[in-house]
Amino acid sequence: MAKANGRSGSDPEMEGAAPPMARIDDDIHDAGSTPRAFTLVEVPLETVPADLAVVTPPSSEKRRRGDVFRPGPGPMVQFQGVIKRYDGDVRGLDGVSVSIATGEFVFLVGQSGSGKSTFIRLCIRELRATSGHVIIGGRDLGELKRSKVPYLRRAIGCVFQDFRLLPDRTASENVAYALQVTGHSRQEVNRRVPEILALVGLDGKGDRLPRELSGGEQQRVSIARALVNQPRLLIADEPTGNLDPDTSQGIMDLLTRINRTGTTVLVATHDRDTVDRMQQRVIALHKGRIVRDAEGGYNEDPGDTGEIA
Ligand SMILES: Nc1ncnc2c1ncn2[C@@H]1O[C@H](COP(=O)(O)OP(=O)(O)O)[C@@H](O)[C@H]1O
Ligand SMILES: [Mg+2]
Repeated sequence: MAKANGRSGSDPEMEGAAPPMARIDDDIHDAGSTPRAFTLVEVPLETVPADLAVVTPPSSEKRRRGDVFRPGPGPMVQFQGVIKRYDGDVRGLDGVSVSIATGEFVFLVGQSGSGKSTFIRLCIRELRATSGHVIIGGRDLGELKRSKVPYLRRAIGCVFQDFRLLPDRTASENVAYALQVTGHSRQEVNRRVPEILALVGLDGKGDRLPRELSGGEQQRVSIARALVNQPRLLIADEPTGNLDPDTSQGIMDLLTRINRTGTTVLVATHDRDTVDRMQQRVIALHKGRIVRDAEGGYNEDPGDTGEIA
């Protein structure tokens, strides 16, 4: 897991590091509904979950909000002959070509080590392909300037197995933070945080700290946070990995609802029951290669050996 989430500063694969200090730039008092006040704080980077750190734009970029990453027409995600080799010739991905259309809901499945997280990290340019092309919203990420990476990441919502919430901030504050770092006004933050919490089914729970929420509720906060910047693409890496089956189903239902609003959704998982229940497009990886790409359940081929379970 440490590897999949590996975003340590020393990782040579790491790209697009955020500035050393992320600043919550204003005192925000929610109009009546939230008694707990937002406070003015400087957030040392090590306390910021990695996925928030990567969406933090350099401060000069806050003034250029018009310069956003807008997906063009055509597929949302395209991999063309993508090979990703880690040190020591470990193959994360071994020649992957696939296309995901705008508006699709896709599961990426495969056993541990099959390359799911590598695929996802390539999509947000947390990793670069060793060869081949990763094209998101019509942009070849191999040609995307480093300075544009924060815009790419703001256009993509990311959700992880371990939620990555700020532990000492309420649900509202965790969501507000994601808006503040992308330069939204206090009024916008105050308006959108309760809206988005209601959307994910957390109405009235904005004042709770993560530890006062169930696992499923914490994952809903992290989905809310991923949605605040209205991403065209939502990527989730094992979003139900820490949840029981019923709670997992609730999270998948939520992702389905989000997909119905037109957001492309890509979910990496090895949760066979969930995938079987959903009957969506399933891309199966095995040792870094696509071994199946079809609508339906996790593993439907009658002659299948179950090798990719
Ligand atoms: N940072 C890394 N350094 C070296 N090898 C890695 C790294 N990350 C992943 N790998 C290797 O790449 C392969 C695919 O890993 P990963 O994409 O994390 O698979 P999954 O998410 O399906 O479990 C595995 O063999 C894994 O050990
Ligand atoms: Mg993984």
